[in-house]
Amino acid sequence: MNDKPSAPATASATNSAWGGRFSEAVDAFVARFTASVSFDQRLYRQDIRGSLAHAAMLAEVGVLSAAECEQITAGLQLIEQQIARGEFNWSETLEDVHMNIEARLTDAIGSVGKKLHTGRSRNDQVATDIRLWLRDEIDQIATLLTRLQSGIIALAESHAETIMPGFTHLQTAQPVTFGHHLLAWNEMLERDHGRLLDCRKRLNYSPLGAAALAGTTYPIDRHATAAALGFTAPTENSLDSVSDRDFAIEFCAFASLLLTHLSRMSEELILWASAQFQFIDLPDRFCTGSSIMPQKKNPDVPELVRGKTGRINGHLVSLLTLMKSQPLAYNKDNQEDKEPLFDSVDTVRDCLRAFADMVPNIQPRQQQMYQAAQRGFSTATDLADYLVRRGLPFRDSHEVVGRAVAYGVEQQRDLSEFTLAELQQFSAAIEDDVFAVLTLEGSVAARDHIGGTAPQQVRSAAARALAKLHSRD
Ligand code: ARG
Repeated sequence: MNDKPSAPATASATNSAWGGRFSEAVDAFVARFTASVSFDQRLYRQDIRGSLAHAAMLAEVGVLSAAECEQITAGLQLIEQQIARGEFNWSETLEDVHMNIEARLTDAIGSVGKKLHTGRSRNDQVATDIRLWLRDEIDQIATLLTRLQSGIIALAESHAETIMPGFTHLQTAQPVTFGHHLLAWNEMLERDHGRLLDCRKRLNYSPLGAAALAGTTYPIDRHATAAALGFTAPTENSLDSVSDRDFAIEFCAFASLLLTHLSRMSEELILWASAQFQFIDLPDRFCTGSSIMPQKKNPDVPELVRGKTGRINGHLVSLLTLMKSQPLAYNKDNQEDKEPLFDSVDTVRDCLRAFADMVPNIQPRQQQMYQAAQRGFSTATDLADYLVRRGLPFRDSHEVVGRAVAYGVEQQRDLSEFTLAELQQFSAAIEDDVFAVLTLEGSVAARDHIGGTAPQQVRSAAARALAKLHSRD
């Protein structure tokens, strides 16, 4: 007992969910400050799905009667339709999506609605909702990734023989095929895809029944709710269940790596579309013009995707920092998990959609790529390897070819444009079969092993990549 003189406030003067304990209403600013309904209403479908499973289980174990469960179920279904139709009046005083729906249920079906919260807490409820929500989103993101990857693989297939310069340090290094370059993109995305599915696997455990932190005194059946909600199993530890948001962090880590990869692809598309490279044309529908410079066609879509990487990395750091040093179990800090996660999901979805629509439609300019590969002595390594086959140690042949390149720079001519006599000035081991080696086609065809750029390797790599992708369908 406390010795306060004033009479205790009634629940309605404070908050219907916890009014009994409080002697004054929450400060209006604090109510706004602590509310999450403006953004967590996005979880309403999952919240209702979770409540339906919980009510059914409570009826199964005898905590609710069958009639009560039916009333609750009908009420929740009605509310779901109202929300979907935009007819639901969200109230900030009711703080979050969970209490809004529960209060409306009681309004709709009377005091039996108050029984829904038996044996659970908003702590396990929200942990369940976010997992269900993220799982649904992951499935859609995986579909978009598959669409983007199939587009890239198909483009790679059709450009298995298209030659372009390969770069190191952004300097011409050796010729590669455009298809090989595209399949490098696919490998990055394939690993991202794997990370996404790993994240799904690990998050798919049901926290429902952990209640506030310690479990509940009711004879609940956590296996039943886990199965009803499509989870692999119930989580093992109630304290951990309501507390950790590592699954959201893991998704954001996936998103950071994905956007890192998309930003690299964006950068290449932007360079390639420039007047200096002219390797590709981007379809007009993915570009915008300039209000002042009539000639401009700007690669806005890849630029924006490159720029979105910033906010995605920011969200990962937000969530890591949010979780760091939190003592067990639930803390209100965790309400801050939603906005970064929601925005990460939206951003990933938009970027993947933009890329899946755009990449298969880029138009490579094969002649420009070919001519660019002819500049920059891209077959110098092939000449060095040729001399090694003729018996020179590699270091000596490197030296010989270096001198030949210096001569070519001076003459402004490529190695393949030298006469045999000119080439022989640098090494007597050179014979007229050297010209086959110095062609771009010869150079790429010679890299004929798994992971190499030879057209036939690119074709079989594309086939393997596609098979791997479809093995997941
Ligand atoms: N809106 C809260 C959140 O997003 C729900 C859980 C609230 N739990 C509590 N004990 N205040 O985390």
